[in-house]
Parts: sequence; C-alpha cells; structure tokens
Amino acid sequence: MKLDIFLLLVFTLSLFFVGDARQYSRCELVRQLRNHRFPTNKLRQWVCLIETHSGGRTDLISRTNRSGYREYGLFQLSDRFWCSKSDLPGKDCNVTCADLLTDDITKAAKCAKKVYRRHGFTAWYGWSKCQGSLPDISAC
Ligand SMILES: *[C@@H]1O[C@H](CO)[C@@H](O)[C@H](O)[C@H]1NC(C)=O
Ligand SMILES: *[C@@H]1O[C@H](CO)[C@@H](O)[C@H](O)[C@H]1NC(C)=O
Repeated sequence: MKLDIFLLLVFTLSLFFVGDARQYSRCELVRQLRNHRFPTNKLRQWVCLIETHSGGRTDLISRTNRSGYREYGLFQLSDRFWCSKSDLPGKDCNVTCADLLTDDITKAAKCAKKVYRRHGFTAWYGWSKCQGSLPDISAC
C-alpha cells in the first residue's frame, strides 16, 4: 500500500517534469506525420496505430507490464528494446525514454520508423485493432 502511494507520487511528479506534452487531435496528428515525412499512402495506418495505442498523447507512459517493461509516448515504444530509462540515450533507437514523451515528436517519429522498418506494424500489440476499418482523414 505504501509502495503504491509512493509510485503514484513519482508518476504524478514525472508528469510535471514532462511539461511540454500534449494530446494531438486526428488532424493535428496527420499534420505532424506529414511534417515528419511519413509516407502519404500509410498515413491512415499510422493515425490508427497512434490513436489505438496512445490516443494521441505525447506524454503517455504505460503501466509496467508483467515482465517489468513500459511503453512511452505517442507510438508507445518499449523500454525493453527501443529507449533507455537512464539519463543517457541508448537501446536500439539511441534515445532516452523521456525523449519519446515530448511535444516535439522528431525523436519518437524516427524511432517508430525504425521499429516499422524492422518489424512492420505487427510490432505493435494493438495493430490487430487497425485491421478492420482505418480512420477517415479526408477532412484533414
Ligand atoms: C511486456 O512488454 C514487452 C515489450 O513491450 C513485451 O515484449 C512482453 O511480451 C510483455 N510481457 C508481458 C508479460 O506482457
Ligand atoms: C547516440 O546519440 C548520442 C547523442 O544523443 C551520440 O553522441 C552517440 O554517438 C549516439 N550513439 C550511437 C551508437 O549512435
């Protein structure tokens, strides 16, 4: 019980330190993805993936899963493979996990593209939810 309260406090404080995070609407996401040169013919897939995993929140940190890993940011990238929990950039994307939580999504976008190049969209556990209909971005 005491530990739970402690963790909640740490988590709440961590949100204050990531002060520049935000939640992107669908069309803002489309704009961000275009700015970061995601391919036009895959934009709806990326929007679906982001909405499914983070709801467009740049500062979202998942709960620790049973193996002790968490996922970070807009693309919910795991500290198992992709980002370092320490202050030094590392793991396969050579970034800190905090780098994946900022309003400026440059590093997160680069890392997500790397995940995609290696494994495709199936790297994301929620990808199956995007297999049916994809979001409508025609108004964006
Ligand atoms: C925990 O997360 C990691 C990376 O996101 C994943 O590879 C692993 O299968 C997950 N483990 C469980 C038990 O959910
Ligand atoms: C990782 O990034 C840092 C700067 O953020 C850079 O100095 C370092 O050379 C990079 N390491 C690798 C292996 O790319």
